[in-house]
Amino acid sequence: MARSAEKAAGNPMTTTFLLNGETVTVDGQPPTRTLLDWLRDTRGLTGTKEGCNEGDCGACSVMVTTSRNGETLHRAFNACILFLPQLEGASVTTVEGLTGPDGALHPVQQSMIDHHGSQCGFCTPGFVVAMATAHLNGATDHDDQLAGNLCRCTGYAPIVRAAEAAAKQPVPDWFAPPVFDAGMTTAGTTDTASAFRPATKLELADWYADNPDATLIAGATDVGLWVTKGLRALSPMAFLNGIEDMRDIEASDDTIRIGAGVTLAELHPAIAPHYPDFAELIRRYASVQVRNAATIGGNIANGSPIGDCPPALIALGATLHLAHRDGARDLPLEDFFLEYGKQDRRPGEFVAGVSIPRPGADRPDRLKCYKVSKRFDQDISALCGCFNLTIDEGRVTKARIAFGGMAGIPKRAHAVEAVLSGQEWGPEAVAAAWDSWEKDFQPLSDMRASATYRMDAARGLLTRYLLEDLGGATRVLEVTP
Ligand SMILES: Cc1cc2nc3c(=O)[nH]c(=O)nc-3n(C[C@H](O)[C@H](O)[C@H](O)COP(=O)(O)OP(=O)(O)OC[C@H]3O[C@@H](n4cnc5c(N)ncnc54)[C@H](O)[C@@H]3O)c2cc1C
Ligand code: FES
Ligand code: FES
Repeated sequence: MARSAEKAAGNPMTTTFLLNGETVTVDGQPPTRTLLDWLRDTRGLTGTKEGCNEGDCGACSVMVTTSRNGETLHRAFNACILFLPQLEGASVTTVEGLTGPDGALHPVQQSMIDHHGSQCGFCTPGFVVAMATAHLNGATDHDDQLAGNLCRCTGYAPIVRAAEAAAKQPVPDWFAPPVFDAGMTTAGTTDTASAFRPATKLELADWYADNPDATLIAGATDVGLWVTKGLRALSPMAFLNGIEDMRDIEASDDTIRIGAGVTLAELHPAIAPHYPDFAELIRRYASVQVRNAATIGGNIANGSPIGDCPPALIALGATLHLAHRDGARDLPLEDFFLEYGKQDRRPGEFVAGVSIPRPGADRPDRLKCYKVSKRFDQDISALCGCFNLTIDEGRVTKARIAFGGMAGIPKRAHAVEAVLSGQEWGPEAVAAAWDSWEKDFQPLSDMRASATYRMDAARGLLTRYLLEDLGGATRVLEVTP
């Protein structure tokens, strides 16, 4: 690599992990080298395919095995937006690692043959890796598990039939992706002037205060695309996925605190008992592969007007926790988003976590989240409305409504909330708020939806919230012809 190109991509970083059971130490690669490119170009493991190179198609799926708090986790990731330093201490299984020592096929591979789950075959390695990961985890929600894998020719019915049949077969004795044992580390990650892998929040705070122009990389489900599609140079950069003290979810009697490094996949089961509708929104967030990488911190910090978590968190009255070497501060999450592309974040300051109230007898869960997108699975919101109205003796006593996709930032509907507050909860209250929507939002038209559609849909979602309160079936999965 030419010196200038190497400088732009960051100095090479050393990373050690297991690849199909063999310890590998990767040296001399720029830190933004993706696992996909490295597997194909350097290791000749071309079973992992490049389709979209942006996390959308699953052709590059690999299984990543890690251990945390004594639990072994096997998760599917998109190798095309996974940078090598994110793999330190992990164990990677590619499609080449699925077969038995004597060449025996994994049950999902045999099942794909038996059920005619493949035609041109380009998507097939990604599918079988995602299926083998679900099989190992005992997951049988096949539609969800495979929502991140696209097939252009076969059609999904034979593939799902193959997954169903394979689920009846046991995991073969020979298929046990190993966990990386700390004792195996031969070199460890070598930090360089341009790339850093902190182990604690304090280490990050110290380094980031000295390098405030650096790029922070958490799950890389946004940043990965800056490299693969935007061809951007990121140096210097810090990889956050090794920071243990930003990965916990702590629930006290009245608060749930979520560390910035918690992934959407980890958040889903943790939030479901408290806010089932938020959990349902997370189920519709991208795909299993993306949710396994994407963090709540990244979803907030990127400031996207169409990120799915901020509207739900704002409707819940979330508090954002920011950290800096010189001290921490808290602010209401809605105040963090200033204008499109601009957040209330000082140089060297980063998102450490977010807290939401824990529902209880005096604070019942009233949150409903409605994601409107062209496709049910694996699609970005055209708009996402989250409603949290407190009703006392038939009247609205408190209203928090937040939307994504209706402005340049995730934004509260203050004018609508003001009209609703104090009203008797019913169709008249919805009608009274009709004109206020235009005070709160002047949405744009873009390829996801027109301004008129967005405004009509937002108004309709308040009616939907009321209908659900009245016991109506309004969800696409509930409504049958
Ligand atoms: C195929 C695909 C589908 C997607 N679908 C959805 C979807 O349905 N809904 C949705 O909301 N999003 C979706 N996204 C977008 C993306 O997954 C989210 O924005 C994600 O939450 C980003 O988190 P991350 O950890 O991957 O962040 P990264 O990509 O690592 O970082 C994103 C930004 O946040 C900054 N950052 C990360 N962590 C911190 C921190 N702790 N403090 C300060 N700054 C930080 C980074 O510097 C960067 O600017 C999708 C992306 C892909 C590729
Ligand atoms: S190549 Fe499409 S998700 Fe990676
Ligand atoms: S078999 Fe051709 S893309 Fe799936």
